[in-house]
Amino acid sequence: MSQPQAAVGAAVPRVDARLRVTGRTKYAGDNSLDGVVHAVVVDSSVGRGRVTGIDARAAEAQTGVVKVISHLNAPKLPPREPGYPPGEALRPFQDDRVRFFGQPVAVVVATTLEVAQHAASLVKVSYDTQPPSTDIGAADPADDPETYARGDADGALEAADVKLDLAYRMARNHHNPMEPAGTVARWEGDKLTLWEKTQHVQGTVETMAAEFGMPPDSIRVISPAVGGAFGSGGRTWVHTSIAALAAREVKRPVKLVLTRRQTYFGVGYRPAYEYDLRLGSDRRGRLTASAHDVRTESSRYERHSEDVLAAGRMLYSTPNVRQVYEHVPLDVNTPTWMRGPGYSSGAFCVESAMDELAHELDLDPIEVRLRNEPADDESSNLPFSTRRLRDCYRVGAREFGWHRRSPKPRSTRDGDWLIGMGMASGVYDTARSEAQASVRLDADGTALVQSATSDMGPGTATSMSQVAADALGLTMRQVTFRLGDSILPLAPGHHGSRTMASVGSAVQDGCDKLRKQAITLAVKDEDSPLYGVAPADVVVHGGRLYVKDEPTRGETYRLLLARNDLTHLEALGSYAGAPESEKFSFYAYAATFAEVAVDARLGLVRVRRMVGVYDAARIINPRLADSQAIGAMTGGIGHALLEHTVTDHRDGRIVNANLADYLVPTHADMPEMKAIYIDGEDYEADPIGVKGLGEIVIVGVAPAIANAVFNATGRRIRELPITAEALL
Ligand code: MOS
Repeated sequence: MSQPQAAVGAAVPRVDARLRVTGRTKYAGDNSLDGVVHAVVVDSSVGRGRVTGIDARAAEAQTGVVKVISHLNAPKLPPREPGYPPGEALRPFQDDRVRFFGQPVAVVVATTLEVAQHAASLVKVSYDTQPPSTDIGAADPADDPETYARGDADGALEAADVKLDLAYRMARNHHNPMEPAGTVARWEGDKLTLWEKTQHVQGTVETMAAEFGMPPDSIRVISPAVGGAFGSGGRTWVHTSIAALAAREVKRPVKLVLTRRQTYFGVGYRPAYEYDLRLGSDRRGRLTASAHDVRTESSRYERHSEDVLAAGRMLYSTPNVRQVYEHVPLDVNTPTWMRGPGYSSGAFCVESAMDELAHELDLDPIEVRLRNEPADDESSNLPFSTRRLRDCYRVGAREFGWHRRSPKPRSTRDGDWLIGMGMASGVYDTARSEAQASVRLDADGTALVQSATSDMGPGTATSMSQVAADALGLTMRQVTFRLGDSILPLAPGHHGSRTMASVGSAVQDGCDKLRKQAITLAVKDEDSPLYGVAPADVVVHGGRLYVKDEPTRGETYRLLLARNDLTHLEALGSYAGAPESEKFSFYAYAATFAEVAVDARLGLVRVRRMVGVYDAARIINPRLADSQAIGAMTGGIGHALLEHTVTDHRDGRIVNANLADYLVPTHADMPEMKAIYIDGEDYEADPIGVKGLGEIVIVGVAPAIANAVFNATGRRIRELPITAEALL
């Protein structure tokens, strides 16, 4: 495949940029169907117990109220097979149990949103209440921990020259994308269509098929635009079932959009963690052992897991490792993936600890990491496909000016501000899943490429169009990429940084097939200037097929198709996903550098500069990549310094379930940021040579900031978020 590369690698603007910035993009809740009615959920005001009564008379008496549905009158749904996470998914109004504060206990359907909101406030719910358990620090873990061990970690820790025994605590975080979760549901006979906010249209089909006991092919899910998600749209939540159920009951299309407050209870979140870490090393800073005891929260009805322990198993060479991962079941809704799930939390602990080790031994933090660089992946005994982490350190140190860092904490001042520099490594799994893409080239020389993937923000349609444009030999303008509809060819969930590798490889395959079809047609066509040419000698550029070494000899797709009386050519591309047993260890890597200023009297932390250097292999679009990296540094600042979902453990309510009290970084918090990508491809990973970028960019941001705070102040904060109070 020696197609000219014109679009891939170029900093092309988003194909939907104008629509997005002019407010014309239609999100799920923007769909207004004929006859649509509005649903407002009534949430539980207690954290655990049973609903003993629902008085909906006042609500039902309101003009415009169509129906109030609760477990008292909801139809019974068929039993549901468990999917992910294991457990029993929360279902719409199937029993009287209250599992967590804010759980939907009824829904009001009315002809206008205002009437539905008012009527929902009139529904009186009575409860038999029990005290909820919502505090991870005060509850017992389940008695079936997941464990991992190699060597004899406890023995080696005992014998180590240098020992660190560290306890990390991380708050729960919520995604808070701009677009709240929402859906519009419509039934036509026994066919269900949903306009849904989701990162996985076909996953939503599967969930609804299980929920209603329907064949998947009678369900269609449409989600062409997503206003940010960060993982919150990775699975289908109960409000989607409620909308579908209500639409079936009232026999009209139903729109249900969660309020900002309701998204805190209605959608998952990054779970809180307690991570106890012990490290042992020799005098030269080479790790001999580590022990990781991790507890995380989950709901009582489902168990969500994430790979918080991966970094501790494979990032550094360590002969003896012991890990225990325990779930603490609480009276809360189920957590879910949030950008860099597991890895970003794990990196905070491991990378803070490496900084402590460096300080203990009076070594440079980069040097201590280099001394522990493994030859291969010691957790799988596989060679790394590519691992350019050393390059990340070298390039990052130079770009950031790491040599200017004073190793002595609290030794650099700028007026009232204490200045510090820190760095941290990051690692994220390169996931690849089965995917397909259809390609159609029309007689006018334009192409339509389609796959049921999603775009929650990274610019999927743009990067896929770039891959398609080069493989077809078209310009970007001649290619349209369509996504976000479950009837399109198979695509995995748009999460886990897998979309470019998976869907991108399917797009490339489909476009390669189509281009070869066209070339074959031309070289066999006596009327074509390409007649008789070896197919391998033909390339396509700008919609014109020509002999590679004789560019004047050729013709356009348009002429070729017209002469052959063809309206179009089409092909289906596919990618099989990662093999059952891998030959390599596949990860993307990062080195993040941060400079902070800490107010010596007030403890306020300001991030002044950040540089992120990434080994994500091939970069399809540096402009979109920068948008990912800068967005992730922003999210990482939130993780490090601001974001904290606060629960009142007396009744299980989230007290800061709004954007005024739940702090996220804003423009005023943002430092100067720079992202750099280490050149190189990884064709062992997938046919287009990428390792995924969307999440590696956040892993390592929080510990880089925490390490910079230590360098600035001499205070080691092992808890996220790092607050001014902790620094006083
Ligand atoms: Mo990402 S947390 O896998 O959407």
